[in-house]
Amino acid sequence: MVDGNRPRRVVVLAGDGIGPEVCAEALRVLEAAVAHERAALELTHALIGGAAIDATGGPLPDATRDACRSADAVLLGAVGGPRWDTLPPELRPEKGLLGLRKTLGVYANLRPVRARAALLDASPLRREIVEGTDLVVVRELLSDVYFGTPRGRSGDRAYNTMEYTVPEVRRVATVAFNIARARRRHVTSVDKANVLEVSRLWREVVTEVGKAYPDVALDHQYVDSLAMDLVRKPTSFDVVLAPNLFGDILSDEAAVLAGSIGLLPSASLGEGPGLYEPIHGSAPDIAGRGIANPLGTIASVAEMLRHSLGLPAAADRVDRAVDRVLDEGARTPDLGGSLSTSDMGSRVLDALAHAAR
Ligand code: IPM
Ligand code: MG
Repeated sequence: MVDGNRPRRVVVLAGDGIGPEVCAEALRVLEAAVAHERAALELTHALIGGAAIDATGGPLPDATRDACRSADAVLLGAVGGPRWDTLPPELRPEKGLLGLRKTLGVYANLRPVRARAALLDASPLRREIVEGTDLVVVRELLSDVYFGTPRGRSGDRAYNTMEYTVPEVRRVATVAFNIARARRRHVTSVDKANVLEVSRLWREVVTEVGKAYPDVALDHQYVDSLAMDLVRKPTSFDVVLAPNLFGDILSDEAAVLAGSIGLLPSASLGEGPGLYEPIHGSAPDIAGRGIANPLGTIASVAEMLRHSLGLPAAADRVDRAVDRVLDEGARTPDLGGSLSTSDMGSRVLDALAHAAR
């Protein structure tokens, strides 16, 4: 976390598909928010994903890795697209993102999901179900079947390894309990402990960590049952603590509660620089048309201001500006409206300027 008044160093990895479009709007907002605090910003752009493959032959060039390591925070748009889908696994755009997460050591991925009053009818779920939803998925990001070895193929067989170590579970569980303390003091830990050994370890360690937090209620729930409750009674959740793969799936499911996946930010935190990205993908079907919703990336900038740049007041201002434009009815096509990506960015900038007066 930056303290004092030295320039905030942010690396921007716009990536593929709608990544560059949504990042452009988020950067306008970041610049305005930082300037309002009379702080300085040093922005560097670097390549990742398919864009990096096209330019350098690999999805995570050394120059990108080095720039990100020495930054205060990294903003990422999205990676991937059909053009690169046929590449061998080690060369795919997604590998760039996974490698970056590993490089930065960002083991805790925070995905807050809130059903805003103005958007209750944007969700395919009934208003009375989503109303009041305010939860955060804390997803473990550096282990599980995503990174486990061995993995590969032999003959007609393909395999990945689902694995967790005690320290890996302990550190992410600690983050979840600390977050719960600042919220409604309730952690629901996700596993499949009726079947998987890895889940039995997960459950043991989470229970152990929870003993240091007697003021926080802890439940364990199987992932299949939780997937159902997430759309049946979402208001019963506060902090959902999940291993990497289950967290990936559940956070997309939770996005329907907010009204559009285009709204949701994420913060990935470890010991070093934080990584901030919208939870949506590169949306190749709408890329280049200027209709993507930039609010998930703009909200990610708010998380960055809060967790990595030491500017919590600026973070709150950005969040309020997003609330305000939605309250006023600003809508991109994913929310049933017709605003362009840059119109939506301008609306948020106007709301920020308005709040500053
Ligand atoms: C996400 C994405 C990534 C993941 C992909 C693009 C590798 O789905 O951030 O949720 O699975 O972690
Ligand atoms: Mg995902």
